[in-house]
Amino acid sequence: MLSTMASIIQPTELTINETAEILRVGSVVAFPTETVYGLGGDTFNTRAMEKIYTLKGRPSTNPLIAHVLDSEEAKTRLTTGWDSRCDELVDRFWPGPLTLILNKRDEVPEAATAGLKTIAVRSPLHEVARKLLKTFGSAISAPSANRSGHVSPTCAEHVCDDFPDHPELQVLDGGPCKVGIESTVLDMTTDIPTILRSGSVTKEQLQEVLGEVNAPSIKEQAASPGTTLRHYAPTTKTILVESKELKHSVESTQDTIALLLSSNLFESLKGMVNEKYCVVMPSDPVGYAAKLYESLRKADDMNTDVIVIEKPSHSVGLWGPIQDRLQRASSF
Ligand code: TXA
Ligand code: MG
Repeated sequence: MLSTMASIIQPTELTINETAEILRVGSVVAFPTETVYGLGGDTFNTRAMEKIYTLKGRPSTNPLIAHVLDSEEAKTRLTTGWDSRCDELVDRFWPGPLTLILNKRDEVPEAATAGLKTIAVRSPLHEVARKLLKTFGSAISAPSANRSGHVSPTCAEHVCDDFPDHPELQVLDGGPCKVGIESTVLDMTTDIPTILRSGSVTKEQLQEVLGEVNAPSIKEQAASPGTTLRHYAPTTKTILVESKELKHSVESTQDTIALLLSSNLFESLKGMVNEKYCVVMPSDPVGYAAKLYESLRKADDMNTDVIVIEKPSHSVGLWGPIQDRLQRASSF
């Protein structure tokens, strides 16, 4: 029987050349970055941009991030108004998980920015993404390679799971993503730069470079396109519960539960819960972020009535964007 799934391709010089060719003819491909996998197309090809929206089921009002090899390309081909603050930011954080919003050049088709006069740019760190950008020789616009609103993919198999009826889609395999949550999106068009989406470059790190940074709360972030409260969400109803209340929640429900919890709580609940339905999360934020989406997908696949997540007790540094994603995953 012919598979209807997307196909996973190992990155070699030959397959990266072939993938770049797919981009040149205006089609789309999935590729790894250090944050999450992206679904990419040629930024300067309107048809390719439209394909991305159709394939993801993405609202046409939600703009895309253009991935570039280096800041020179962002400066000279995509944006206007690049200033010394941008230079300082990219010196420190590129290549890496920081996305900058600037005014776009007229040459960039509006299909790449959902009609906005601004454009998001980022230079990814992942070796396979960089090889693809180098071989293709131009910017690749890519949202996360998941169905719109679903949990972002952090390995090639997740992309295939989200696009079961697309045998034509090729996914370059770059292994599991090391960062595991999406890039920080920073608007550089406001007097004081504004974080539109928190990510693994933290507010504290940005403040070290920029001094003042606006960081709106999750509710205020509704001002940013594509940051609807419910996002990054499993299909199963998901709730976020404080550590000290979790035992009571588990005892008082008739529902079947999949649990994402710390090893401490796991130890204290032994005997009370079915270990098969427990996903024990790393205690350090780097490990937690890297495992978060994989764990949400795993819990979703358990087909329980509800997913209960133990709310981590920290909120500074990288725990900030983790708390943001947990809130969004559990909002209905
Ligand atoms: O880590 C990442 O950023 C990943 C990888 C693939 O690079 N990409 C990603 O793309 O998460 P996506 O499309 O899922 O999220 C992009 C975010 C959205 O919230 C979108 O609204 C925002 O960036 N964005 C893009 N262009 C924008 C613009 N011109 N103004 C304001 N927000 C923008
Ligand atoms: Mg996304």
